[in-house]
Amino acid sequence: MSEAKKLFIKTYGCQMNVYDSERMAEALGGSGYVTTDTADDADMILLNTCHIREKAAEKVYSELGRFKGLKAAKPDLKIGVAGCVAQAEGEEIMRRQPMVDLVVGPQSYHRLPDMEAKAGAGQKALDTDFPEEDKFEHLKARPKAKRAPAAFLTVQEGCDKFCAFCVVPYTRGAEVSRPADRVLTEARDLVDRGVREITLLGQNVNAYHGASSDGDWGLARLIRELAKIDDLKRIRFTTSHPNDMEEDLIAAHGDCEKLMPYLHLPVQSGSDRILKAMNRKHTAESYIRLVERIRAARPDLLLSGDFIVGFPGETDQDFEDTMSLVREVGYGQAYSFKYSTRPGTPAAEKPQIDPDVASERLHRLQELLTQQQHAAQDAMVGREVGVMIERKGRLDGQMVGKSDHLHAVHLQAPADNVGQILRVKITESAPNSLAGTLVA
Ligand code: 5AD
Ligand code: SF4
Repeated sequence: MSEAKKLFIKTYGCQMNVYDSERMAEALGGSGYVTTDTADDADMILLNTCHIREKAAEKVYSELGRFKGLKAAKPDLKIGVAGCVAQAEGEEIMRRQPMVDLVVGPQSYHRLPDMEAKAGAGQKALDTDFPEEDKFEHLKARPKAKRAPAAFLTVQEGCDKFCAFCVVPYTRGAEVSRPADRVLTEARDLVDRGVREITLLGQNVNAYHGASSDGDWGLARLIRELAKIDDLKRIRFTTSHPNDMEEDLIAAHGDCEKLMPYLHLPVQSGSDRILKAMNRKHTAESYIRLVERIRAARPDLLLSGDFIVGFPGETDQDFEDTMSLVREVGYGQAYSFKYSTRPGTPAAEKPQIDPDVASERLHRLQELLTQQQHAAQDAMVGREVGVMIERKGRLDGQMVGKSDHLHAVHLQAPADNVGQILRVKITESAPNSLAGTLVA
């Protein structure tokens, strides 16, 4: 057998890209590739890109520039660009960077082996179609390799919400849900390979409506069926839109034990004026009431969110409304961003606000969110929680895992516990993690 070729994939952006990179590696495994951790010894380099905020494309070009020397030293080296920048700028990338051999959009990953073969024959390959066939069926994992205990599983892709700032509906396309039986089959396969925690992924995952033999299933039904897989211990999902948080999904947070007490539910802004301009189709008040209902079902829920500051037209008062919402809701952790103009989106046409003002707002918001994150962590001290052990820590005998609330936890535990959920008493709270001791 000829020696395996080496594939280096660099992943940017969201967890769906992490999942996609794994699938691409598996697809190219069939063409004789094994993954490597450095670009230096690679036979193929793939950049799996993100287009959500500014400078994404520039970052890709400068990253590509860095591979020039490698390509000169090894003319057979294949260089590919995948992901949302590939989708948005496919032909432009080919024009601007002649050393790129292939450009593949997120809906065409299953065609990678053919594209690789074409690139091998010295031709350029570009595919940014939205094909009819089910890419996931073509991307079925080949070798039944053992997996780390926590895995992602994409169940839904694309978005029909068209928030005024967002490129996702354009790069990932319309909302599509994978059929429920295929999701269940993939989940069982993951569990057979050692997975104990599954994060269901989708750009709008709670809008999931996958076909099954007894009609369409919503996300709650899917979660309840997944929960029947014995060795699957934990389930969570990301990311959600408030308007798709239906009654049975809220109920599942209360009655489905395997559903983790963690929810990422972006609100983006606390100002109704800005929410309207963002085309979010909910108000600050309706979001706050929704969070109350979810917390009534699951009182110890840790809430995460996304925020944008400096959206066109945002006044000081609008920003103060966001700060008030954050104070009222209380987040265990959150992501916050300065608004970034995305060409082709409706908000890009609006007059932009002063970038210094936006920076100052972002700073204030992040201070508040960090305070809340620390408070949520400090509140864990003294509590007993479940920790799923993921890997060895840096210190002797130290293991690292994730709590039910998704906090990183360090503890002393035997190394053969990876994948087990252990009872741990939290003893300390550090800025970005917790420490604890095993409960006998
Ligand atoms: N500018 C800043 N942040 C954005 N997001 C999406 N588009 C933009 C943009 N144009 C943020 C939103 C979203 C998260 C994934 O990225 O908060 O929820
Ligand atoms: Fe983008 Fe999310 Fe809005 Fe869809 S719901 S347009 S993915 S921010």
